[in-house]
Formats: sequence, C-alpha cells, structure tokens
Amino acid sequence: MTDRSRDDSVEDAASVRHIPVMADEVIEAMAPRAGTTHVDTTLGGGGHAERILESSSPDGRLLGLDADGAAIARVRDRLGSRFGERLTLRQANFRELAAVAPEAGFGEVDGCLFDLGLSSFQLADEDRGFGFRTGGPLDMRFDTERGIAAAELLATLDRDELTALFRRYGEEPFAGRIARAIVETRRTVPVRTAEELAALVARVAPSRAPGRRRVHPATRVFQALRIAVNEELEALEAGLAAAVDLLRPGGRLAVLSYHSLEDRIVKRFLQAERRGCTCPPEAPVCVCGRQPRLRLLTPKGLVPSAAEVAANPRARSARLRAAERLAA
Ligand SMILES: C[S@@+](CC[C@H](N)C(=O)[O-])C[C@H]1O[C@@H](n2cnc3c(N)ncnc32)[C@H](O)[C@@H]1O
Repeated sequence: MTDRSRDDSVEDAASVRHIPVMADEVIEAMAPRAGTTHVDTTLGGGGHAERILESSSPDGRLLGLDADGAAIARVRDRLGSRFGERLTLRQANFRELAAVAPEAGFGEVDGCLFDLGLSSFQLADEDRGFGFRTGGPLDMRFDTERGIAAAELLATLDRDELTALFRRYGEEPFAGRIARAIVETRRTVPVRTAEELAALVARVAPSRAPGRRRVHPATRVFQALRIAVNEELEALEAGLAAAVDLLRPGGRLAVLSYHSLEDRIVKRFLQAERRGCTCPPEAPVCVCGRQPRLRLLTPKGLVPSAAEVAANPRARSARLRAAERLAA
C-alpha cells in the first residue's frame, strides 16, 4: 500500500485550523455558480463549504454533513450567520446520504464533495485518540455517540482478528507481531491511550520497513483501527452510490482520498459508472441494460502541487478524482 496517512502530528489545540486541501482544484471540478445546490458530505472545518458558498453567491445553497457533532457546531459558529439560509447543516454519516439529503430539501443537486478521513481538529483533540501523542482515551470514532471505540476493539478481538484487521485496513507487514504484543500486554494492563498503542507498536515493529519512506511505525495500525471503528470503506461505497443518484445531469462528483484503500474504491466505482454495462466480457450482447452514468473529468486523478504540499504537509497524500453525471 502507498502509505499516505496524515496521522503524524499533533498540534497545540488552541492554534489548530484545518486548511482545505486542493481547494482551487475542487472548485474548478465542481464549478459552483449562482443558483446551484451542493452537498459537502465531509464538512470538517467548513473550508471547502465556504469556498463553494462564495463561488455560488448570491443564492447557491449547500448542505453540510459530518458524522462528528463538534464539526457541525464549529461550522455553525463560524459560517452560520454569514450564509444564513444558504447553509443547511446536519450531523449525519454520509452512508445515510440517500435519506438525509432529500429530507433536508436537497433531493437533486449540482455537486457532491467527499473529502475523506479526519480533520486537523480531530487529530489534535486529546480526547479522541486519533494522533500518536495523545494521552486521552483511544476512541477514534467520528461520531462519539455510535459504534465501538478503538480501545474496546483492542481489548476484545483475539490475536487472529487483530492480525487480520491490521493487514486488511493497514496492509501492515508486521501485523502478526503487533497483534501478539497487544494480546500479551493486555493480559496485565489494557492498551487504553493512543500514546500507549504508538509506543507498543514502536517497540515491536521496525521503524522503517524495507522500501518504505520514513513514517511513524504506528501509522498503518492507527489507520487500520480508524477504518475499522468507523466502517469507513463500507460507508464510502454507500455514500458514492447515493451521491450519483442525487446528481442532476451535468452535476459534479469530487472525491479527495488520502490512502490507496480509499482511492481504489473511488477509482473502481467511477470506472464502473463510466462503463455502465456490468455483463461479463464473454457475453455476446448486453443483458444488464445499465447505461454509463458518469463521464470522468480527471481520468488519472489529480495530486496537489509541490507548493501546496510545502505550505500544507497534510495535503501530500491527497488524490482528487472528479466526474460529471450524464443524463442516463
Ligand atoms: C478531511 S475532513 C474534511 C475537511 C473539510 N473539507 C474542510 O475543508 O474543512 C473530513 C471530515 O469528514 C468527516 N467524516 C469522515 N467520514 C465521514 C462519514 N462517513 N460521514 C460523515 N462525515 C464523515 C470527519 O468527521 C471529518 O470532520
């Protein structure tokens, strides 16, 4: 796996801000203008949402979703009075997009954005356990009211299950060794904080696997746990399918992914919607009747400029893929 995790720094909470990644490219791909309606399915700090609302002035509308209630509250404080009724906010997982968007008055839209993963606010939050150096509980849920926290997974999965999890969602070469160390450690003391987990992994896994660039040795384990806790890959598949259904002909889908597991799902999804027909290649004629629903705007995907990566290191692993909804 190309390791493109952003989970490698914790900032002083008071100075945190989230810089929207590839914002100019996202705006160009989504082409917001007066009168358009958009959904930002991953509101975060609201940086992309703000740019979309500015570009669709004076009357474009945007629905902002985030699984994390703190993100919704933060954006409501920052942008609520400035954009008034043009901005609608809902705490929701984008896997529920098909139900949430029509209920909020966004039954058909001109654009849908996914900026995957976590925000700088979440990474810096001591109580969330996303960053390696946080001493608070190892939680990792985007929505802290639902699901099972990462510490509970570490306490309850057996060695084989932990190994499979680290392999599947982190493509971690030392998955077995790390799983064994977790199971041995928890016999005497539970692994409760991000800091404890990072230290445990650093103890048993070499800091640099052959052929990989230098990253914290726990990067892949943290990524794997976060993906599992939030069922991120399943949510992504459901969210993308719902987004295409919501788009009007000519509407735009834009997805920013940050590691190869996400990007693979996005790429395959876009290719399948571009092709339409799902009949096996050996079938003499099409019997499925599925028409292409998307035209790719970025066949290979776009990556950030060197200048953006220098200014915002968290952009370094981003890949933007965009497509336009066809009339089918
Ligand atoms: C990278 S941040 C988005 C940053 C945002 N584009 C900005 O400019 O500030 C990703 C956000 O998506 C949210 N998120 C991740 N998966 C989600 C899901 N399945 N449903 C809803 N929100 C999700 C996270 O809680 C986080 O706030």
